[in-house]
Order: sequence, then structure tokens, then C-alpha cells
Amino acid sequence: MEQKSSNVVWHNATVTRELREKQSNHKSAILWFTGLSGSGKSTLAHAVEERLYKLGCRTFVLDGDNVRHGLCSDLGFSDEDRTENIRRIGEVAKLFTEAGVITLTAFISPFIADREQVRNRVPHGDFIEVYCESSLAVCEGRDVKGLYKKARSGEIPEFTGINSPYEAPLNPEIIAKTGEKTLDECADDIISVLNERGIIAL
Ligand code: ADX
Repeated sequence: MEQKSSNVVWHNATVTRELREKQSNHKSAILWFTGLSGSGKSTLAHAVEERLYKLGCRTFVLDGDNVRHGLCSDLGFSDEDRTENIRRIGEVAKLFTEAGVITLTAFISPFIADREQVRNRVPHGDFIEVYCESSLAVCEGRDVKGLYKKARSGEIPEFTGINSPYEAPLNPEIIAKTGEKTLDECADDIISVLNERGIIAL
């Protein structure tokens, strides 16, 4: 996005990311959960966060439904608004990594280009894409929020998977088979990957 403000100069912190990471005994990272509505992104993100919290890690979950009440309350569900939604969340997640936090984001984030944009805005290795793989049939069958029913009846236009596209990741760091595996299994897999990548030390 074009920068509108001029005469702004970057100020470097003396308490750096590295110092914060050393203090908290783990690295920063962004666990970027993506998937259809009802694919279990938020549930899994919170389950992983709980495990990390118990391990003494500094974490925070940015959740689509919550963020749309505040930071992104001016945005709807057009392609452009979704792109702006993800751009803002990406920038917030980037700030959180500077703060030494393991950030877990739970947004549909339906477009590959938007997710790649975030990946490219942060240092290599910081962005860990977690594809919550659950078929439309399973998500719609669950219909926890009753939104698929509304979308089918035409009450919600531009609903992801029904009349708005979802582009699955081509090469995600993690595939969480949320349609098949249990929540515990999916959360354990993610914790293992964080350990393998040296973000946490078990
Ligand atoms: S995103 O596409 O911009 O990433 P985001 O994750 O913030 O979406 O918000 C998705 C949540 O908003 C869904 O879980 C659902 O509860 C709600 N929602 C309301 N309208 C829509 C819609 N048209 N498409 C998808 N989700 C919607």
C-alpha cells in the first residue's frame, strides 16, 4: 500500500526483538491459520495457545470475528475489504513478532496473494501457514454459526465457499486435517513443528 505520510522517520528500539526472545526463552513467530468458515481455525489456534501458555510462552490470538468488531469494523466482505483486512492483521502480527510474541491469527484469509503479501513482509521463517483442511461439506454440515444456511438462502451475499472464493494454500508449512483428526492431535502436530523449527524448546 502507498505510504501517505511523509517526514516520518523509523525509530529503532533499544530493547530489541532478540533481547525479548532471550528473556522469554522462545522465538517469535506468526502461526497463520487459514481455512473456510467453520474449519476450526479459532478453536485450533486457541488450543495451541493454551499449550504454549502452559509451556510459559508469550502468545496472542488475533481472531477474525473479534478483530472485525474493532480494528477492522469498517470493513465488509468484498474481495477488496478482505484484502485490506488481511493486510492490517499482517501488520499487527508483524508488530507482535517485534514484541517477542508467538502470534496466532485465525482468519479465513481466502486469497493466496494476500497471504503471500504478509509472508513477504516479515523475516524469512516467521510466517508459518497452517491450512485448516476441512471440506466445504463438513464445514457446512457443522454450520456452528448458522451462516451457511443463511448464505444458501441468499441472506448473506459473498459468503466464502458458497458465493465467494477460497484459495487453499499450495505449499503450507502445516496441514491440520481438522475435518478428520481430533483437536488434540492437530494441536500436538503444531507444537511439534514449532519445536522442530526451534521456535520453542520442549
Ligand atoms: S476474511 O475473509 O476477511 O479473512 P474473517 O476471517 O475476517 O474473513 O471473517 C470471517 C468471519 O466472519 C466468519 O467466520 C463468519 O463468522 C463471519 N462472516 C460474516 N459474513 C461473512 C462472509 N460473507 N464470508 C465469510 N465470513 C463471513
